[in-house]
Amino acid sequence: MEPIVNEASSTSSKPKEKSYSGYVITGTLAGVVFGIHLIAGPFITPALRRICLPFVPATEEQVENVFRALKGRKGKFVDLGSGDGRLVREAAKRNFTAHGVEMNIWLVLYSKFKTYRQGLSSKATYSRTDLWKHSLKQYDNIVIFGVQNMMKELEKKIIAECKEDVRVVACRFPLPNIEPEAEIGSDVNTVWLYKIPKT
Ligand SMILES: C[S@@+](CC[C@H](N)C(=O)[O-])C[C@H]1O[C@@H](n2cnc3c(N)ncnc32)[C@H](O)[C@@H]1O
Repeated sequence: MEPIVNEASSTSSKPKEKSYSGYVITGTLAGVVFGIHLIAGPFITPALRRICLPFVPATEEQVENVFRALKGRKGKFVDLGSGDGRLVREAAKRNFTAHGVEMNIWLVLYSKFKTYRQGLSSKATYSRTDLWKHSLKQYDNIVIFGVQNMMKELEKKIIAECKEDVRVVACRFPLPNIEPEAEIGSDVNTVWLYKIPKT
């Protein structure tokens, strides 16, 4: 007796297998793309903002110059766009009460982790905040490593919000209208120290 071959079921099982592996491949690819987007996105999105301020960490010399500029100062310190938190941790080591304001969630998490590992969490904190929306009125010392096209707007914000006797240190790019008290270092490591005139 001839075996009965059910053609309908034998042909329909093959496409089913294909579509299952298709789902697996598509799902895996989607997961990979999503993962890349999740991790790389915060590093790429600054390029899409009105003012593009990418993550470029301060050099050792720049860090040293910032604290030479702030020699003898104390109180509250903020780094606007704190990156991996290196300036904030250094400020905490030098007895400032230090805070970092940073938009990139991964850099905030990394900063918090490294700060915890170094036992500095009581003196150094971070928030995932837009520096343009962060009030400056509580700080005695403000540091910014920015880009040239943001300095005019930032200068206005600082003048409008900061308290008396604050000192501002600008790294690499100076404030455009205020005369600095001091200029420290050279080339890309130059920092400018400002006492902000109150109107
Ligand atoms: C030039 S890096 C300086 C990093 C750090 N201050 C240092 O000196 O090592 C600028 C940082 O600002 C962050 N940033 C860019 N736009 C921002 C915004 N609107 N608010 C807060 N942080 C911002 C970037 O993610 C980047 O980490």
